[in-house]
Amino acid sequence: MIKVGIILGSTRPGRNGEAVAHWVRDLAVKRGDAEYELIDLNDYGLPNLDEASVAAMGRYEHEHTKRWSAKIDAFDAFVFVTPEYNHSVPGALKNALDFLYAEWNDKAAGFVGYGIDGAARAVEHLRQILAQVGVATVAQQVTLSIHHDFENFTAFKPTAAQEGRLTLVLDQVLAWGGALRTLRG
Ligand SMILES: Cc1cc2nc3c(=O)[nH]c(=O)nc-3n(C[C@H](O)[C@H](O)[C@H](O)COP(=O)(O)O)c2cc1C
Repeated sequence: MIKVGIILGSTRPGRNGEAVAHWVRDLAVKRGDAEYELIDLNDYGLPNLDEASVAAMGRYEHEHTKRWSAKIDAFDAFVFVTPEYNHSVPGALKNALDFLYAEWNDKAAGFVGYGIDGAARAVEHLRQILAQVGVATVAQQVTLSIHHDFENFTAFKPTAAQEGRLTLVLDQVLAWGGALRTLRG
């Protein structure tokens, strides 16, 4: 079975991201078509990038990097759950991406964004970043609106259409994740 990591990109206390990531994980697991796991950046305690060698060298000094590397290496594909912070992704997510290189290569990813405009700008940035680490990003994405999919900007109540959009994202992530697995041997 394909392994799909659902990466929660926000780390701040009281983040809306937790409810969104659980929604993604719960709907994904119900499909029964892959192994899905929630990856919460808060569980990895990554500091600002503190490796002396660039990630492409794969020479990691620190235990936190080795642990993060082993986790990401185990997956075939990812769903990034990201808010939009100042028209981009949270710094913590960019930092977590920068720590690794080969672990991302030749894998697929899809997106669930949330923000005033569904985090569309953040996801566009994320697509550019992921291209550089060799991740193939699927066309479909979920764009959750802070105005329409949350009550009082905090209680997550996705509108009916969002589940269907998530299904399309997961369908594509699985198809490309499977195809790229053959490339990695
Ligand atoms: C530092 C910061 C910058 C933000 N900038 C944007 C933005 O540029 N566009 C947007 O749509 N929402 C923006 N927001 C609103 C967030 O999308 C919204 O608060 C979301 O819930 C944040 O995700 P989190 O609760 O998981 O941290 C920003 C929020 C924060 C904390």
